[in-house]
Amino acid sequence: MKNNDPKSKIQNIINTNTITNTNTKKVNVIAIDGPSGAGKSTVSKILANKLGYEYISTGAMYRLVGLISDEMGIFNNNEKVKELCENIGEKIFFKNGRIYYKGEDYTEKIYENRVSMLASEISKRKVVRSYLGKLQREIGLKQPSILEGRDIGTVIFPDAKYKFFLDASPEKRAERRYKELKEKGENVDYEKILEEIIKRDKNDSERELAPLKKADDAIYIDTSEMTIDEVIDTIIDYIKSEKHKNRN
Ligand code: DC
Repeated sequence: MKNNDPKSKIQNIINTNTITNTNTKKVNVIAIDGPSGAGKSTVSKILANKLGYEYISTGAMYRLVGLISDEMGIFNNNEKVKELCENIGEKIFFKNGRIYYKGEDYTEKIYENRVSMLASEISKRKVVRSYLGKLQREIGLKQPSILEGRDIGTVIFPDAKYKFFLDASPEKRAERRYKELKEKGENVDYEKILEEIIKRDKNDSERELAPLKKADDAIYIDTSEMTIDEVIDTIIDYIKSEKHKNRN
């Protein structure tokens, strides 16, 4: 039987990995999806500041769960990972673009290169996606928010008022990631980074649950030859224009 309770609708979205929300009312969320290195985080942070929205990196949540379960030695134990995710909502919080777990700032640690693959691997699991997905929806609804990730426009907020899909060539994305890690003092090799980016794209877009995918009604922006400011201006122009109102 169809359940019309709004909460159940949200649960359906998260659990079934399909867009079941038939409610046409849009929520005040900007969904920014795309592969790694397309510029999502930088763009989202600046936009959030300019527009007075809360910035939420959903990738940071998968990174955190990947890192913590690795540190606890439970990465391959689904039951233990489930326990970790079950009450993570009480232990995690975002502030000024940083992520805290049990009061400790994990922002630097989760962006170490080795954590990228841990996050990509753990994010394939149903138990992880359903707990984190529910949490993302809850946090995003508390205030006007910008959420960036892989499945925000398709699964978490199919009803977002604005949706963008940022993309760039794998070479360009690897170049950006290489520079970023070099600046942080990590010892990295460009070819290896490119290889990892291609592997992660494959992992994220070919997985069964909530794969990386442009929502049909998202605006596609190829950032390969664009500056950050140009991407931001493109998004703001779109938001200011009334075009989004014509979306289904
Ligand atoms: O955005 P990021 O590179 O920090 O994300 C790390 C990994 O987390 C990414 O490879 C896939 C996963 N992820 C996801 O599955 N769904 C999201 N909404 C965000 C990230």
